[in-house]
Amino acid sequence: MQVDGRPYRTIWLNDDGETVEIIDQTKLPHRFEIARLETMEDAAIAIKDMLVRGAPLIGATAAYGMALAARSDPSNEALSAAYDHLHATRPTAINLRWALDEMMQALSPLSPTERPARAYERAAEIADEDVEINRGIGRAGLPIIEAICAGKRPGETVNILTHCNAGWLATVDWGPATAPIYMAHEAGIPVHVWVDETRPRNQGASLTAWELGHHGVPHTVIADNTGGHLMQHGMVDMVIVGTDRTTASGDVCNKIGTYLKALAARDNSVPFYVGLPSPTIDFRVHDGVKEIPIEQRSGEEVAKITGRTASGDIETVTIVPEKSPVANYAFDVTPARLVTGLVTERGVLAANREAIAAAFPERVQAAA
Ligand code: MRU
Repeated sequence: MQVDGRPYRTIWLNDDGETVEIIDQTKLPHRFEIARLETMEDAAIAIKDMLVRGAPLIGATAAYGMALAARSDPSNEALSAAYDHLHATRPTAINLRWALDEMMQALSPLSPTERPARAYERAAEIADEDVEINRGIGRAGLPIIEAICAGKRPGETVNILTHCNAGWLATVDWGPATAPIYMAHEAGIPVHVWVDETRPRNQGASLTAWELGHHGVPHTVIADNTGGHLMQHGMVDMVIVGTDRTTASGDVCNKIGTYLKALAARDNSVPFYVGLPSPTIDFRVHDGVKEIPIEQRSGEEVAKITGRTASGDIETVTIVPEKSPVANYAFDVTPARLVTGLVTERGVLAANREAIAAAFPERVQAAA
């Protein structure tokens, strides 16, 4: 997508053909900074410290992390250590394991001397595939927005609520929740996005608002608990979110608070869609609530908040009494029964085992 008129992806190979560059998302929305990854350890830190985040981008970064590892030591032992190290960075987004497995599958049959070149090639393919998958999700999701628009008075706005950042910053480009929105906007449909701030890290307020703004999409940032009220008053036409892991039966794990939006949507007959890239489906998991590991992050993220002061400095302040314990569950699971449709690169699917298996038979077979 565009940043100040210049097209960007969130991750790319440097001109030197070896190091990798990313947009440092911890600096947004106040500063647009590029960070360089020179080693596998840099890639692991970028994922763990959330310079990059969002399930698909975590996967693409891990793939390049394996390429950086292969460049420094392409032996079996070193690659397997790199796999384990990268895999341990964040537990919930399944794209991480998916990308690492893809890299291992590509590299294991080769001799060590052949591995570095193939590793860079496969990582680039994974990044390109992610762009195409998200473009496909946009194409599949656009008719949903068109249909809502067709049911309104001419010129009336389609109001879409989203949670966290499942935008282009969460992927290599486009974003599973925002691709249909960007395409609708480009098609001239009047869209407006309600952006949940998404405490504690504020990916909605800091990232989704930033990217929608740079693309000229009308939006309003709201406090996390506002969605139910808006839905009760007919101010939300649809909800669309991303996912970090979706089970074979259609349960959707996404940023903490997603489940509450799905409940409010059901109570108010607002359709609740999930933009789902196929690498985010975990065919080995069936009951999302029981089986998906939920990342628990530092309580500091809840106890503190970072922002820009009037003088332009970025500062972090504490908002919780010093001695109060805090808990920071990063994700929750929305059961399939609350999901209106899974918007995938192969079309909009019902959130159930049969529909998912019919759309991705090769993945079911590979997982068996
Ligand atoms: O903790 P984050 O910022 O990595 O969480 C990101 C999300 O929850 C996104 O909604 C999810 O990764 C889907 S985006 C493709």
